[in-house]
Amino acid sequence: MAENMGNLRRTHYCNEISEDLVSKEVTLMGWVAKQRSLGSIIFVDLRDRSGIAQIVFDDTCGDELLEKASHIRGEFVIAVRGKIRERSSINEELDTGSVEVLAEELRILSESEVPPIYVKDNDNVSENMRLKYRTLDLRKPSMQKNLMIRSEIYKITRDFFYEHGFIEIETPMLTKPTPEGARDYLVPSRVNAGKFYALPQSPQLMKQLLMVAGLDRYIQITKCFRDEDLRANRQPEFTQIDLEMSFVTEEEVMSINEAFLKKLFKEILDIDIELPIKRMEYQEAMDRFGVDKPDLRFGMELVDISEIVKDCGFKVFENNVEKGRSVRGIKVEGGDEAYSKKQVKKLESFVKDYKAAGLSWIRIGEEIDSPISKFLSEETLDNILEAFDAKKGDLILILADKNSVVYSGLGNLRNKVARDLNLINNNDYKLVWITKFPLFEYDEEEERYVAMHHPFTSPLDSDIDKLVNDKENARAKAYDLVINGDEMGGGSIRINDPDIQEKMFEALGLSQEEANEKFGFLLDAFKYGAPPHGGLAYGLDRLVMLFTNASSIRDVIAFPKTQAATCLLTGAPTELSDKQLEEVHIKVVE
Ligand code: AMO
Repeated sequence: MAENMGNLRRTHYCNEISEDLVSKEVTLMGWVAKQRSLGSIIFVDLRDRSGIAQIVFDDTCGDELLEKASHIRGEFVIAVRGKIRERSSINEELDTGSVEVLAEELRILSESEVPPIYVKDNDNVSENMRLKYRTLDLRKPSMQKNLMIRSEIYKITRDFFYEHGFIEIETPMLTKPTPEGARDYLVPSRVNAGKFYALPQSPQLMKQLLMVAGLDRYIQITKCFRDEDLRANRQPEFTQIDLEMSFVTEEEVMSINEAFLKKLFKEILDIDIELPIKRMEYQEAMDRFGVDKPDLRFGMELVDISEIVKDCGFKVFENNVEKGRSVRGIKVEGGDEAYSKKQVKKLESFVKDYKAAGLSWIRIGEEIDSPISKFLSEETLDNILEAFDAKKGDLILILADKNSVVYSGLGNLRNKVARDLNLINNNDYKLVWITKFPLFEYDEEEERYVAMHHPFTSPLDSDIDKLVNDKENARAKAYDLVINGDEMGGGSIRINDPDIQEKMFEALGLSQEEANEKFGFLLDAFKYGAPPHGGLAYGLDRLVMLFTNASSIRDVIAFPKTQAATCLLTGAPTELSDKQLEEVHIKVVE
């Protein structure tokens, strides 16, 4: 039977007990992490948010109390009053390991059935069980730590931006589709039959309206919703630190954010990051690392050997260069030993996932070993080895393909090899701004250019003419913040000139009517005085992952969704009753 707290009131958190309190009376409340009975003496590890304290019940406590304590089981919620004393044998693993509480009063506030998962870090339980029994999972010290760091990040963020003149403004959740390029989550309207709201993919248009409204500097920590394929660092419902500023250039947006990042790193990890943060243009990132979010913690940069092999006699290489594609590779130092031939086959199937036709390799062992060496002259081979600065023991991996395939194949292969060979130091933080993104990218499915960022991103001043005559090479005033190979945030300076906006819509193949239908409310507002403005949004969940060293985004969100966008705790999404469906004017078709 559960009891109430009676006259007991908590005096301390578990990890606040220390030698300073010896012989003082304390009252602790929490969950039973562990209970060991040695007959006339019972030890209980009591857990709360702060840590663990050892409680002792022995024959000085009296038979009644000892009897009661013998019923305690794991995850019972108890209140204990008693005196602090030094422990005879110190437990070095506990913060409170030099003291214990000798109990004088015990109240069992709530009993627990045998829990379906252990409340223990690094337990080998399946993630599905963890998500289903999330309250137990969240009791684990690592999960509590993650949520506390998350909360600290909210506070540092608000403190910093408030101090710098930003004001926090909420924007609607029930809104019109926003232009971030994923699918929308839709909400049917009951009072407007046949009409739907979209949940925001980001507050992008609203924050621009706030700038037109003269609010000058806006910040919001807010949920965003995107119906897209989920990966390790994506959730359908995630959180952004979203901000926008008026009368600024890219430099000002980046520099205030650098000061913010410096504060975050200092306060959370006690690391002094160097300012200004390195900047790298998009094209340089692609040429050197194959991806627009390069991990700069290790080398293994891409080497372009198109020039060397353009007339080499090996048709695969020659043909690709002739078609304006390219031949590039990476050198894996020590790769001859690290990767068997069978493992290199696996690397080949890895790059095939990125649409590569195949992977060529050159092993530099006692002799050169390569399936392509028979097609190459000794001179070409020498030139290739020289281009890679290859030494004995190295392995060279080469792709010849369309540039987009070569980049993504090698860029991702580079990251995989670094993980395989443990080349990444987890205590290292490499920050970089990627700048001058292309304004457009070609969508092969839709056979048209789409905005790489969104249609309100301003072109570089020097590239305005390219909107019409050279879309391929038009670049944007857009910047992404990349840390350790992950995109932590991105933003841009926006278009505030209606003529350029019109050209942009034209370039995207959007008629005036279509543009008006989608974004008319924004375009209208711009007619009455729109300041130059720009901003940025961070993926807050990703920042928390970085600062907690979590490998899954689900470990930094209290109640996350699975890869299949379901919530195992609540069972969402669920079917609706016929009545509910009728109310929102929806018929489900099998
Ligand atoms: P963007 O689409 O780049 O920009 O999003 C900003 C940041 O949000 C994070 N992010 C995600 N995190 C978790 N799960 C997801 N599904 C997910 N999608 C994005 C990333 C990303 O860098 N309105 C613009 C910002 C602006 O221009 O000011 C925007 O939303 O870390």
